[in-house]
Amino acid sequence: MATARGIACLLVAVICLACAAVAVARSPAARVHRHLKRLNKPAVKSIESPDGDIIDCVPISHQPAFDHPFLKNHTIQMRPDYHPDGMYDDDDSKSETTSGTGGERPMVQLWHHGGRCPEGTVPIRRTKRDDLLRASSMRRYGRKRHTVANPMSVDPNLLNEGGHQHAIAYVQGDKYYGAKATINVWTPKIEQPNEFSLSQLWILGGSFGEDLNSIEAGWQVSPDLYGDNNTRLFTYWTSDAYQATGCYNILCAGFVQINSEIAMGASIFPVSGYSGSQYDISIMIWKDPKEGNWWMQFGKDYVLGYWPSFLFSYLGDSASMIEWGGEVVNSQLDGVHTSTQMGSGHFPEEGFSKASYFKNIQVVDSTNDLRAPKALATFTEQPNCYDVQNGNNGDWGTYFYYGGPGRSSNCQ
Ligand SMILES: *[C@@H]1O[C@H](CO)[C@@H](O)[C@H](O)[C@H]1NC(C)=O
Ligand SMILES: *[C@@H]1O[C@H](CO)[C@@H](O)[C@H](O)[C@H]1NC(C)=O
Repeated sequence: MATARGIACLLVAVICLACAAVAVARSPAARVHRHLKRLNKPAVKSIESPDGDIIDCVPISHQPAFDHPFLKNHTIQMRPDYHPDGMYDDDDSKSETTSGTGGERPMVQLWHHGGRCPEGTVPIRRTKRDDLLRASSMRRYGRKRHTVANPMSVDPNLLNEGGHQHAIAYVQGDKYYGAKATINVWTPKIEQPNEFSLSQLWILGGSFGEDLNSIEAGWQVSPDLYGDNNTRLFTYWTSDAYQATGCYNILCAGFVQINSEIAMGASIFPVSGYSGSQYDISIMIWKDPKEGNWWMQFGKDYVLGYWPSFLFSYLGDSASMIEWGGEVVNSQLDGVHTSTQMGSGHFPEEGFSKASYFKNIQVVDSTNDLRAPKALATFTEQPNCYDVQNGNNGDWGTYFYYGGPGRSSNCQ
């Protein structure tokens, strides 16, 4: 009898303990902890950046990419099998990665102030508790929906209800195997923390429905994602129109990084000033014809790594459209247009050192050569808010100015 009571008590106690354990595991604090543990891999060295970031130097074989089930037995490719022609010698700037007219030595990324990562490691911006707590949903952290400009169909509701706005140049109607551009770097002002402003290129495959494949890279200011207003290098990928797959930077398993000097999501420095020194970054993304992986290079010297071909459907073959330009979120608070800036916050008419530019824009064609884009078109939803103007000249090749201030007497 006593034994039976004892067993019953024991059972109750065990059940209570189990319940408590489940409750703890399900508590928000435990979820944050688990999420951080998944994102932040053990580092051999950590570097403090003046902007408050911590950069973890993670052994290359322990990076988040290898959480992907398809990458369990993956042999890292330490260099691409193929570089499009002219990769190392067509950039006329004398500087390294950010080229400027200011005469100062380019620094590239702010965290370099604090040191460098050892060889055999990759630098990863540490995700902090606060980063996760700012996100509306932890599961969506790093996946915040952004968009691709669809020049063929502007949804009129999008303009009325507030949404994303673009000012871009684009090409379509061919098979593309990559793209390149030199992008002027600024720090546009963001009105609301849940808005952002970015300047990037898009490598697109599929249709603007549920299955769009996209690889994107450029700079962005995004208070929600990073907790500040700094201009940061970023990438994004998706294989289902931003629904279940993909993320910013390496906040999910996918991109395989090989470079020990450039961290995705880290601040770029210096940035351009109005009528002042101008700085730009060049980015190239191309498909390795042998392995099929999509590679990314930053500046002349940094091959960052690659997106394995299996991540994509359409882009497993080639891209069908390339876009270059800016995007902002217009949250239309109180029914008026946002004053969040695109580019420098000034219209294209103002020109060099006042308006932001993309120059030397090129595509990789079906012979795997870089060439000027044919039949470049431009698109913007509301030219009175953000505009784009393209041109051609000797030094700058195919270029455009883009951007604007957002809200004004002409943009309500
Ligand atoms: C990885 O390799 C091992 C041994 O060769 C094999 O048994 C396993 O199935 C492979 N796993 C995957 C996901 O390919
Ligand atoms: C970002 O800029 C906005 C205004 O431009 C300002 O209100 C906000 O405090 C800034 N955020 C941070 C984290 O510095």
